Parts: sequence; C-alpha cells; structure tokens
Amino acid sequence: MEQVMSGEGKRVCVTGASGYIASWIVKFLLQRGYVVNATVRSLNDPTKTEHLLALDGAEKRLHLFEANLLEEGSFDSAIYGCDGVFHTASPVILQSNDPEDCYLISKTLAEDAAWKFAKEKGIDMISMNPAAVIGPILQPTMNLTTFVYVFNLINGSETYPNLAFGWIHVKDVAEAHIRALEIPSAKGRYILSETVAHFADLVNILHELYPNLKLPNRCDDDSPLDPTYKISQDKAKTLGIDYIPLKVALKETVECLKEKFNISV
Ligand SMILES: NC(=O)c1ccc[n+]([C@@H]2O[C@H](COP(=O)([O-])OP(=O)(O)OC[C@H]3O[C@@H](n4cnc5c(N)ncnc54)[C@H](OP(=O)(O)O)[C@@H]3O)[C@@H](O)[C@H]2O)c1
Repeated sequence: MEQVMSGEGKRVCVTGASGYIASWIVKFLLQRGYVVNATVRSLNDPTKTEHLLALDGAEKRLHLFEANLLEEGSFDSAIYGCDGVFHTASPVILQSNDPEDCYLISKTLAEDAAWKFAKEKGIDMISMNPAAVIGPILQPTMNLTTFVYVFNLINGSETYPNLAFGWIHVKDVAEAHIRALEIPSAKGRYILSETVAHFADLVNILHELYPNLKLPNRCDDDSPLDPTYKISQDKAKTLGIDYIPLKVALKETVECLKEKFNISV
C-alpha cells in the first residue's frame, strides 16, 4: 500500500466550510489531526459557524476566516502556509429559466477555468466531481442541495421528478477529497458515484425502509422515465473507498431529517 500523508502537523484550508460537503471534510480532517483553516462568508452568522466549532478537535485546531469569492484577495490569509486547499465554496447565481442547465454550465466553466489557472501557475490540482450527494447534514439549515429532494419525497409531495441521477453519500465525498490529498499518486479528475438511480427507484427503496410513510406514487410528467446509465468507478476506487450503498444513504438522510427538522415518518 502506498505511503499516505498523515494529518498530524499539517495545515490545510477548506473554503466554503459551512457548506454541506465541506462541513464533513472539516469534521474528517479534524479527526485525522489536521489543523484546519476554514473560510465562511460571515463570522457573525452562528448558523454557519456553530456546527463547525462544536466538532471534536475544533477548539485547538480549527481556525475560522472570513472570505468571499467575489472579493479579490480575501482568501490569502486563510490559504497562507497551508499544505493543501479544499476549494468547495461555490457561488451559483441563477439567471436562467432552467436552473439545472445553468448549474451544469457554471460547473463546467468553473472547472475549465480552474484547470487553466492551475496549469499556468504550476498548482498541483485534483478535481472531484461528485454525483448527487445525499446523507446527513451537519449544519443546522437545509441548503439548496440534493438533500432537499429527499425532504420533498417524504414531506407530502404528490409526485417525484422524472430524473435519474448518480448518487453518492456525503461521507464518501468528504473521504475521497481527503484521500486525494493524502495519496501521492492521486491526480486528475475523479467522478464519484455509488450508483445511478431514478427517483422512482428512490421511492421504492424508501417504501421498503419505511412501509408506513406516505410517498409520491406518480412521476411529475407523462414522458418515458429518464433512463439510468453507468458511471465507471474504476478511477475513484483507486482512492480505496468502499462506497456506502444508496439504501443506507437514504436511511441516514431520513433519520437526519427526523432528528433535525422534526419530520415525522
Ligand atoms: N450537493 C451536491 O449534490 C453536489 C453535487 C456535485 C457537486 N457539488 C458541488 O460541491 C460544492 C459544494 O456543494 P455543497 O452541496 O456542499 O453546497 P453548499 O452547502 O451550498 O456549500 C457551498 C458553500 O459555498 C459558499 N459560498 C457561496 N458563495 C460564496 C462566495 N461568494 N464566497 C465564498 N463562499 C461562498 C457557501 O457559503 P455560505 O454558507 O455563506 O452560503 C457555502 O458554504 C459546490 O461546488 C457544488 O456545486 C455538490
């Protein structure tokens, strides 16, 4: 097995640290002994900081910084002296009639720009491309993430979307990010997806898990079901992660919704 980097004595930066994926990255980094410089947009908003400050190891090894991507140079102090940067902060400004298209375009352009910049500046960059991310949230509020889709399914929605997505547990996404830093041979782009499933499949799994739960029983359009497809796991598997199955991810998501938002199922 390749010698991996240990967190002891290393300092890393996580941008957008209060976000869904980033909060898990911070949690796992602290568990491994890293010193973490975490950026948030506002240090005065407890909903963005309290869940991070409550993490094990935070008292001694978590340092919060205020930084906004729209302000030139505002990340400099957080990144200075770090052995690695997990850049998850992402402003998505929706100005289209089709938010999904707009999102996909913004992500493609952002990744292209990042690769170009990294090449020009000689930065050792790796890009992580997770499928739709589910699993429990650490932050107290629901962001506009795929977590919300599960909330809608179990919260009285009459229909489910005619969409098939790749799905991945948030803990696997966080773990993959950290391993990409720790494993010296890691490079390039990683697509992270445990399985591809239609919302109709999610409804079936939820029915198995919670037989008494009222779930939508029809699709929100009459078109043929969005087809599923295959996503290769070969490269992602070189990071040595055994993906958490979708069924477990869904259960943990629902349990989190019950606990944090008093959703009765
Ligand atoms: N969740 C998914 O299913 C999924 C799937 C594939 C890829 N991704 C990508 O993974 C990344 C993280 O996603 P996520 O689900 O964890 O999203 P998230 O919970 O919304 O987190 C995004 C973070 O970016 C920060 N941010 C937004 N605008 C900013 C700005 N102008 N300056 C600095 N920080 C800013 C937010 O800060 P505030 O807390 O202050 O708002 C937030 O903490 C994003 O690039 C997303 O597109 C997510």
